[in-house]
Amino acid sequence: MSKAPMILDHPLVQHKVSLLRDKSTGTKEFKELVGEIAMLLCYEATRDLPTKEVEIETPIAVAKSHVLAGRKLALVPILRAGLGMVDGMLSLLPAAKVGHIGMYRNEETLEPVEYYCKLPSDIAERDVLLLDPMLATGGSACDAITQIKKRGARSIKFLAIIAAPEGLAKVHEQHPDVDIYVAALDEKLNENGYIVPGLGDAGDRIFGTK
Ligand code: PRP
Ligand code: URA
Repeated sequence: MSKAPMILDHPLVQHKVSLLRDKSTGTKEFKELVGEIAMLLCYEATRDLPTKEVEIETPIAVAKSHVLAGRKLALVPILRAGLGMVDGMLSLLPAAKVGHIGMYRNEETLEPVEYYCKLPSDIAERDVLLLDPMLATGGSACDAITQIKKRGARSIKFLAIIAAPEGLAKVHEQHPDVDIYVAALDEKLNENGYIVPGLGDAGDRIFGTK
């Protein structure tokens, strides 16, 4: 069941990721870029949504055309940084429901600490798109996926902007059924668990807290 992660090599994505990495990019632009990249990741991650044929009257003739077949979706950002991806995703998926999982990494152990979880009550019937710009050790993503599965969801995709090989391997190993979409795969983690070269602390850069 386990598949290789989808790494978006589109020029627009690469360009935007480069701007995001730049330490001189300020909070406003950083937040906008996270939203735009999320939209492009969303485009790729929803490629397999089912459609059905409908007839539409154009001003000229009747056309056989396709619309989404009504699959229910849920977006679940991992707080805080995942919040930065929600609006971009909702601009393409306005009917999706949004759940939230709050997690932060213990700075010494790098283990995730969960402090909040509120998901749509019918999450078990929804296809879940889990959002976090950074996949570093993979601890936060793995715990978030476990929480979502505990509530009955069976179809989960994880969307990140930058991933480290260590995080990808961990999610792959613990949750081989979860498809992963990333905009860039970086070299490694440093001794503090930051992605190298990465972009620094995504939450701080989105919310201007440093
Ligand atoms: C960041 C990021 C991920 C996590 C990734 O969050 O947004 O959730 O680290 O690291 P991991 O793969 O090693 O678990 P952080 O803990 O900084 O919390 P914040 O978004 O609230 O600042
Ligand atoms: N979380 C971040 O925000 N950045 C990293 O490089 C690693 C974890």
